[in-house]
Formats: sequence, structure tokens, C-alpha cells
Amino acid sequence: MDSHAHWKSIYTIKDSNKVSWFQEHADTSLRIIQQNESDKNAHIIDVGAGASPLVDDLLLAGYKNLEVLDISSEALAITQERLGEDQTNIVWRNDNVLEEKLPRHHYDVWHDRAVFHFLTNEEDRNRYVKQVCHALKPNGKVIISTFGPDGPLKCSGLPIVRYNHDTLHNEFGAQFKLIEHGQEDHLTPDGSVQKFVYCFCKMVNN
Ligand SMILES: C[S@@+](CC[C@H](N)C(=O)[O-])C[C@H]1O[C@@H](n2cnc3c(N)ncnc32)[C@H](O)[C@@H]1O
Repeated sequence: MDSHAHWKSIYTIKDSNKVSWFQEHADTSLRIIQQNESDKNAHIIDVGAGASPLVDDLLLAGYKNLEVLDISSEALAITQERLGEDQTNIVWRNDNVLEEKLPRHHYDVWHDRAVFHFLTNEEDRNRYVKQVCHALKPNGKVIISTFGPDGPLKCSGLPIVRYNHDTLHNEFGAQFKLIEHGQEDHLTPDGSVQKFVYCFCKMVNN
């Protein structure tokens, strides 16, 4: 099954609040964005957002230029339905993050929770970082969260790469300055704990 078909079936078969990565609120991501991006007109993209409530909470917090990207149109439809009329205030992108034609130097904040870790080959990781460098404004900010060193070996049944903050930061290279990093115990809907790591970086040389 290719990646597109995999994610289509996940969001068709499973309730979006029963998937292992479900969060009622993306508290860590929201906190980092609110602490570091005071401009409510900032352009913020949530990459591989799935049905995450981050966009809902960013809207509530007053952010006006929000974009949501996911390979699964089914995931996007869940968030669109939840948002109702507010969905018209969001730019929706249904594509593979490695292939989507994103505007150059456009985003102030790039957010990714549990997507980068699916890139198990180096070529795809390089394409991803190129995409970030292309789309982010100079001095733009990146929040990336993946499974940590003690996290599961698979996510949604797919193999992943686990990182600590150093190895994750190294994937992005010297043009990204590491501002904050941390670990998070994520409690899944079935009650197990998944160890996540996150890095918050600023682009310093674009
Ligand atoms: C583990 S889920 C995480 C969802 C969300 N970020 C969250 O934290 O709730 C991974 C998401 O990334 C999407 N995805 C996986 N590979 C992708 C890719 N190459 N491009 C865009 N989206 C992708 C999937 O459809 C899925 O919604």
C-alpha cells in the first residue's frame, strides 16, 4: 500500500480521536508558538496535521494566516467539518509535503508533529529540509516533534526513525539554531505512553 492509500484508510476506518497520536489539545506546540510568535498575522503552516486541533486553538488565539497540509483529504475533511464556517479562514493543502509547491520564503512558523519521523530514507529527509528552507522566511521558526530514543519503533503501523534532540537538530543542519528542545510523554487513547522529542529552531541563514 502506498503512503497515500495508507493514510486514506486510517482516517476512513478509525475514529480520529482513537488514533494513537490523538491529542485533545496540542499543548506543547501551542505554547511554543504563542511564546515565540506574537504577531497574529504570522503565516503558520501545520504540516501533516491530520485531524489535529492545533489549527482550532491557533484560530481561537487570534492567528489569522493559518495553513493545514496533509496527504489525506479524509483527515482534512474531519478538521474542516469540526471548524464549520471558520474553515474558510484557512488555506488547505492536500498533498505530500515533499511534493507540494509551497510559496518561497512565505512562512513564519513551520509545525510538524509525528510526520518527519516517517521519512526513513536520507533522500526524502533531504527533500523535506529543502522544502522547509524554500518555504520558510529568513529567521522563520520550525517546531518538529518525533518519537524519541525510547519511543515506539512504528507509528500507525509504519516504520519510523527515532531521534534525540541532537540527531533531530542535525538533520536540519547549521542553518537552524536550536532554541528549545524537550521530551514529552504522550498518553495514547488506549492508555499507553509514547515518548516524543521536540525541537524548536530558528532559521539563521536562508
Ligand atoms: C502520526 S499522524 C500525526 C498527525 C498530527 N500531526 C498530530 O500530531 O495529530 C501523521 C500525519 O501525517 C500525514 N502524512 C504522512 N506522510 C505525509 C506526507 N509525506 N505529506 C503530508 N502528510 C503526510 C498523515 O496523513 C497523518 O495525518
